[in-house]
Amino acid sequence: MVFHVLTIFPDFFRGPFEHGVVARAAAAGKIRLEVHDLRNWTTDRHRTVDDRPFGGGEGMVLKAEPIFRAAEAIFPERGPARRIILMSPQGRLFDQAAARRLSRLDELLLLAGRYEGVDERVAERLADEELSIGDYVLSGGELAAAVVIDAVARLLDGVLGNQDSALRESFGGGAEGPGLLDCPQYTRPAGFRGWQAPEVLLSGNHEEVRRWRLEAAIEKTARMRPELLEKWKSRVER
Ligand code: ADE
Repeated sequence: MVFHVLTIFPDFFRGPFEHGVVARAAAAGKIRLEVHDLRNWTTDRHRTVDDRPFGGGEGMVLKAEPIFRAAEAIFPERGPARRIILMSPQGRLFDQAAARRLSRLDELLLLAGRYEGVDERVAERLADEELSIGDYVLSGGELAAAVVIDAVARLLDGVLGNQDSALRESFGGGAEGPGLLDCPQYTRPAGFRGWQAPEVLLSGNHEEVRRWRLEAAIEKTARMRPELLEKWKSRVER
């Protein structure tokens, strides 16, 4: 799968994508990352990407024209397996189901917004969708784009050593909807500062371990994310 990002801070992506799962997937040829500098599609001497908002107000707005020109150069042809997504706090919430849906595409172009906003014609006339990674405002869409790429890349075949783990863990509940949060995990030493890891995990009894993990996942989901537990219950009761 090919991930494109359009940004005014191309260097931003050096750090996040030089480590871990995404870097290994790129090295193995499972994904390709292409970071595009928005200023390359400006036409004036100052390489202007933003301007003051019509109607007045604070801050600057990213201009539509360079973004359209860039997107049309990166995707000369559009199609169902190529999507353009604007990252913004006004978008629909990104979740594991969205990550799964995007992981079926061939190519994804993520537009990282900046400043006080992006000319609305980008959302209305260029992007296939607008996504937010959470109900808080970041200073730009770069971090959000990196989050989406990480969450999608790890779902691709052959990217995680054990494909199973992408399914089993938190939110992995399959196409039907969200699952439970992941169960608590422990590793050696069994006793740490007087706090013992649960005895059953050391017992070697796989059936009891499985049962404990499900109960612990339910308990933790109830405590941390009660709304997820309700969704999960209504699904397993069906
Ligand atoms: N840009 C600024 N805040 C954002 C958010 N919460 N999600 C996606 N893009 C953003």
